[in-house]
Amino acid sequence: MVGPEGETVTQRASTGGLPSDGVIDATLEEVHARYHGLDDGEVADYIPVLAEADPRWFGLSLIESAGTVHEVGDVDTEFSIQSISKAFVFALVCQSRSSELVHERVGVNNTGLAFNSVMAVELNDGKPLNSMVNAGAIATTALMPGTTSAEKWENIRSGLSRFAGRPLRLDGRVYESEMTTNQRNKALARLLESYGRIITDPLDTVDIYTRQCSLQVTAHDLAVMGATLADGGINPLTGRQVVSAEVARDTLALLASCGMYENSGEWLFEIGLPAKSGVSGGIVAIAPGKGALGTFSPRVDAAGNSVRGQRACFHLSRALGLNLFASNAVAQRVREGR
Ligand code: DON
Repeated sequence: MVGPEGETVTQRASTGGLPSDGVIDATLEEVHARYHGLDDGEVADYIPVLAEADPRWFGLSLIESAGTVHEVGDVDTEFSIQSISKAFVFALVCQSRSSELVHERVGVNNTGLAFNSVMAVELNDGKPLNSMVNAGAIATTALMPGTTSAEKWENIRSGLSRFAGRPLRLDGRVYESEMTTNQRNKALARLLESYGRIITDPLDTVDIYTRQCSLQVTAHDLAVMGATLADGGINPLTGRQVVSAEVARDTLALLASCGMYENSGEWLFEIGLPAKSGVSGGIVAIAPGKGALGTFSPRVDAAGNSVRGQRACFHLSRALGLNLFASNAVAQRVREGR
């Protein structure tokens, strides 16, 4: 259960535009004040450097497709993007190769298992099932264009920077820390190799994957990156087309089914938005045609999703009418001549 027990937030309809700037700003302030004291969850420590994060950090950014920025709290604090990179690397690979290729080689169905599951690969004849879990993300990174590992890495770094609208930098400490503790990802890459599912060097591919996860972003960056997917692939702040409208659509479809790991169904049921989380505490949630939310707070639940971030998205989705599935009864209004 993501939503707060016993607390109701009136669901506005998703059809139509966003509420006024004043309503959005006041709602962001209210949500920040309501959840900044929530101390459920733990700061991730399986990548040792992540444990240094201050659990009090809490930032909320909402950027409209038209480019208007609404923010409260720690929206300029940098943290490593972690699994949220998977969504944008998927989009870049679909753009440079094709969505069909990723569909066929990696898959687009939820595993129903944890993000680092080995069993999910074993149960499916070596097919990782989707690009949002670690095995599928490693297989997707392997498809990134580039003749050398350095070139593939630069294509990822510059591609994610175009989504953010600014040059993103590697957090060397996070990268080093993860490289000493990522035996499981190396094992997943070897397993994929044994099934003939990746043909690039498995350990080099894990190295690039670990670099992509170590790029530093802020809650503001996540909202810009998400708003780019919300607006047919055009970055609302730079005006630059980063991916095609078709790729943006395909990425959002995948995020809706797989972005929150084994909790994706529950997330879609309660919040109704395509989204992606990272274990360092970030969440990006996208309202197609309207904009995106970037949230950051380091305490995560057992699935690796930020606790305050999920609560904030739950509240904002309802209060701002973001849920894709919420509609008003137009037919009745037409019949009554209103
Ligand atoms: O591969 C890993 O385990 C990390 N680099 C990323 C995991 C992650 O963010 C899971 N998210 N909730």
